[in-house]
Amino acid sequence: MPKPLKLINPFKPTAGMTPPVLIGREGVIDDFVDGLDKGPGAPSRLMRITGLGGSGKTVLLTQLGDIAADRGWTVVNVSGREPLCASIQEQLAHDTRLRSLDIKISLPVVSAEAHLGGAAEELSFREVLTRATRSLTKHGSGLLITVDEVQDASYEEMATIATSVQYMIREQQDIGLLFAGITTGVLDLLNGEGITFLRRAKAEELASIPTEEVARALRKTIEASGLHIDDDALAYAAG
Ligand SMILES: Nc1ncnc2c1ncn2[C@@H]1O[C@H](COP(=O)(O)OP(=O)(O)OP(=O)(O)O)[C@@H](O)[C@H]1O
Ligand SMILES: [Mg+2]
Repeated sequence: MPKPLKLINPFKPTAGMTPPVLIGREGVIDDFVDGLDKGPGAPSRLMRITGLGGSGKTVLLTQLGDIAADRGWTVVNVSGREPLCASIQEQLAHDTRLRSLDIKISLPVVSAEAHLGGAAEELSFREVLTRATRSLTKHGSGLLITVDEVQDASYEEMATIATSVQYMIREQQDIGLLFAGITTGVLDLLNGEGITFLRRAKAEELASIPTEEVARALRKTIEASGLHIDDDALAYAAG
């Protein structure tokens, strides 16, 4: 009896994981890579990714973060559902690169008002972000912050992050900020005062992916697995 072929499903989505093939995102990815290459102040280092639920925002954010990490950047991923500044500060405090550079980042002070962006926390956050970014830039690296679920973020905290990032860009440091969320929620956030800097972010609205593109990616993936699909089946699968 021949050994049965072991089939691996190349499309299998695993919760929270990047699918093996990202359909229809080449443009955004190229833009982002360009921005990394161009240096401080490049427009696509500041990006907002919007779309409906399930449109692929988180997966894209993860992918862009991975690209930056592959290029030696320190990447900090946070969600608007957690205290943003404290979470960024904590991740920086534990970052192995910063530790190896002997850059000491203090842990955030946990206080009842931390997530409300009290003045003391704001100062401390700004100092931490500044120190980390300057050190990373000096060593040929950079800092990328990604904020997912930004529609749930505290407005004050987003303003603090925006101000600090803007300050670093003005200083020509290597920093990037990507934020993603449900379109309406993100637009509400951008309407607020004190957050005008974020309106400059390059906008990427994720629409549904065109059928032909899905079909092309399906065929490529199936054939790369050594399998075959005929045109009718492909059209049906791409729906
Ligand atoms: N470009 C893509 N190509 C193939 N599959 C994708 C792509 N983008 C997303 N997916 C798949 O679609 C599903 C939803 O993606 P994701 O979780 O990133 O959406 P989301 O916009 O973050 O949703 P939510 O608003 O609920 O957080 C996932 O299973 C993911 O693997
Ligand atoms: Mg998501």
